[in-house]
Amino acid sequence: MHIPLWTSTLATVAVASALPTLPPAGTLIPSNTTFPLPGPITGDRLAIHIHDPAVAKFNGTYFLFSTHNNISIATAPALKGPWTRAGQVLMNGSVIPNQGSLDPWAPDVHNINGTFFLYYTVSTFGTRESSIGVATSRTMAPGTWTDYGAVITTGKTTPQSHGFTALSTSNALDPNLFYDPFSGNATLQWGSFFSNIWQVPMDAGLIAPRSGSPPIAFEPAAPSPVEGSFLHQAQANGWYYLFFSHGVCCGYKIKVARSESIAGPFYDKSGRSALQGGGEVIFASQGHVYGPGGQGVFTEDDGTDILYYHYVDTREGFSDFKLLGYNNITYVDGWPVLV
Ligand SMILES: *[C@@H]1O[C@H](CO)[C@@H](O)[C@H](O)[C@H]1NC(C)=O
Ligand SMILES: *[C@@H]1O[C@H](CO)[C@@H](O)[C@H](O)[C@H]1NC(C)=O
Ligand SMILES: *[C@@H]1O[C@H](CO)[C@@H](O)[C@H](O)[C@H]1NC(C)=O
Ligand SMILES: *[C@@H]1O[C@H](CO)[C@@H](O)[C@H](O)[C@H]1NC(C)=O
Ligand SMILES: *[C@@H]1O[C@H](CO)[C@@H](O)[C@H](O)[C@H]1NC(C)=O
Ligand SMILES: *[C@@H]1O[C@H](CO)[C@@H](O)[C@H](O)[C@H]1NC(C)=O
Ligand SMILES: *[C@@H]1O[C@H](CO)[C@@H](O)[C@H](O)[C@H]1NC(C)=O
Repeated sequence: MHIPLWTSTLATVAVASALPTLPPAGTLIPSNTTFPLPGPITGDRLAIHIHDPAVAKFNGTYFLFSTHNNISIATAPALKGPWTRAGQVLMNGSVIPNQGSLDPWAPDVHNINGTFFLYYTVSTFGTRESSIGVATSRTMAPGTWTDYGAVITTGKTTPQSHGFTALSTSNALDPNLFYDPFSGNATLQWGSFFSNIWQVPMDAGLIAPRSGSPPIAFEPAAPSPVEGSFLHQAQANGWYYLFFSHGVCCGYKIKVARSESIAGPFYDKSGRSALQGGGEVIFASQGHVYGPGGQGVFTEDDGTDILYYHYVDTREGFSDFKLLGYNNITYVDGWPVLV
């Protein structure tokens, strides 16, 4: 989701400056936990500055999708770059009738049986009038995408709520598909700020929900800032990990909770449920890394899982201009740790 970088609480960062002045470029963010630095990255300035990234690979080329520019596409020979801008997914915006159809966001992409399914959001800001749409392509190249429009819709124009509570109460933002190649079962996760993170089983064609289901994550503390979920099953150990972004402003960070089943319940190390504010912090602001979130997991050909995300590099100044970051994941005692 598109979170204003600066809300009212600059306190932990803006040591030297009063509101609304932003801290000077290069301000280091204090942290009691040490996280690794994001991996190296090179490329065109606008190709690597992204929002809500999604990464996939086809025929040796890495593809990076981002909010903005009708879902922008950048390509590179390696995750570290060099990245170049390649075009966009939805040349003319989304076919979904919504005020936000000319500015879709939060792409999520998966290769399923050789077809790339790209889920995206259109929304009218500040309302529940939102849809998650899907477009497909066999190569991901610009001009090859077919837009199928809405998969789920929430808000007053709800033609597809199917009577599911999940759809009649939530806001259809920040999609994430989980597909189990062994059973063919798929679920769609979504949801944002103020509400919960929701999950519904999808039909075999992956373009409509099969039934309604209860939420899978919630932060009881106002303003309930959980969003941008990504469900991943680690081939290394079989656990299902629910990654999500948590917090506002200076405390924006990446958390994870795990489960033995696709539908949860998801718990953190201390046994706290993701529905009750639980979750391990695996990446957070520190040094020149500020406000990481919008994450996903990409699995390399050799099986290595890589967490990618956006963050602000404070050396570039504090703005909404976010850089692609990534780190390999190792699993220690069944928990993901970034290296
Ligand atoms: C670090 O830990 C100390 C002592 O627990 C605490 O007072 C301080 O707020 C923490 N700082 C950050 C940035 O979390
Ligand atoms: C895959 O890459 C090779 C080498 O760059 C190229 O010749 C081939 O056309 C590509 N295949 C597809 C389906 O894009
Ligand atoms: C998306 O494409 C439409 C049609 O070309 C254009 O009007 C709109 O400005 C584009 N949106 C963005 C965010 O670039
Ligand atoms: C975009 O709109 C233009 C003008 O209506 C049309 O010619 C073109 O085919 C459209 N492209 C796509 C991918 O829908
Ligand atoms: C993917 O292929 C499997 C095996 O052929 C099939 O059962 C499944 O329905 C396919 N899924 C999609 C979404 O095409
Ligand atoms: C797939 O979904 C069906 C129907 O919901 C369920 O009975 C089955 O246990 C699921 N399989 C897996 C591996 O999750
Ligand atoms: C991350 O994993 C990739 C793929 O296995 C490997 O090539 C690379 O060296 C790893 N990077 C680090 C920093 O461990």
